[in-house]
Amino acid sequence: HIEIEVARYAGVCYGVERALGMAEKAAVEARKPVNTLGPLIHNPLVVNDLESIGVGTASSVSEVEEGTLIIRAHGVVPSVVEDARTRGLDVLDATCPYVKKVHNAAERLVREGYQLIVVGESGHPEVEGIMGHAGDDAHVVSVPGDLDAIDLSRKVGVVVQTTQTPGALADVVAELSKRTMDLRVINTICSATQERQDSAAELAHRVDAMIVVGGKNSGNTRRLAEICTAACPKTHHIEDASEIEPAWFDGVSHIGVTAGASTPASHIERALVRMRSLLES
Ligand code: F3S
Repeated sequence: HIEIEVARYAGVCYGVERALGMAEKAAVEARKPVNTLGPLIHNPLVVNDLESIGVGTASSVSEVEEGTLIIRAHGVVPSVVEDARTRGLDVLDATCPYVKKVHNAAERLVREGYQLIVVGESGHPEVEGIMGHAGDDAHVVSVPGDLDAIDLSRKVGVVVQTTQTPGALADVVAELSKRTMDLRVINTICSATQERQDSAAELAHRVDAMIVVGGKNSGNTRRLAEICTAACPKTHHIEDASEIEPAWFDGVSHIGVTAGASTPASHIERALVRMRSLLES
């Protein structure tokens, strides 16, 4: 008997799953066109599936004439929502509640007079959205050296892009604590990425072979595959269930499965179905 075990945390995070569910529901209920502002998820297969049920992708608010505009889990700057409403669109805000918390923390720190630092990746849509909630006097910092250009004479407040690592935050905070006496850090890191990595590593250590499901050009899926390979040399990164080869299971009694953050549950399920049928034949 060969056991197949899926990692405790695998595949799309809560916020993206929620946004996908909101889009599917809107497609069923709406009488007018439904569009997302930018792709809801970095997975062309899922974007195509959405299109087939009537959810299109717009690259800007001005492209959309009528109907519903869905804001994705990353969130946006407030002016985007205002623009869309002014154009008469129904805005369906699928901003992840954890991203909302970052927006609220940023607004609060600015209101309380802190010089705001956003630890994150400059130009990333989530970071742009956070900056839009922070007003004009906030700075994005990705490495401690970025602090050199910032006036730190006031009290300093820090929030973090949800997908940053605790290490990246710690590096910036360590440097800040040398440069300012009044420092307030609100740790807004979301545990989804870490949980996926930790549970993939834990599982990979216990199994004979590991299957990682997700886009070949998805950064976080590749990272998962690296982590699994380090613990289990028989790790295979697949994009689609059809790539699974029976020879991978020769002499194997326990197989682990994990999936990247842009892999929906249905794709994991497809891989499981194919593995079971290969193992039975
Ligand atoms: Fe996902 Fe929301 Fe965390 S979008 S990664 S659950 S902040």
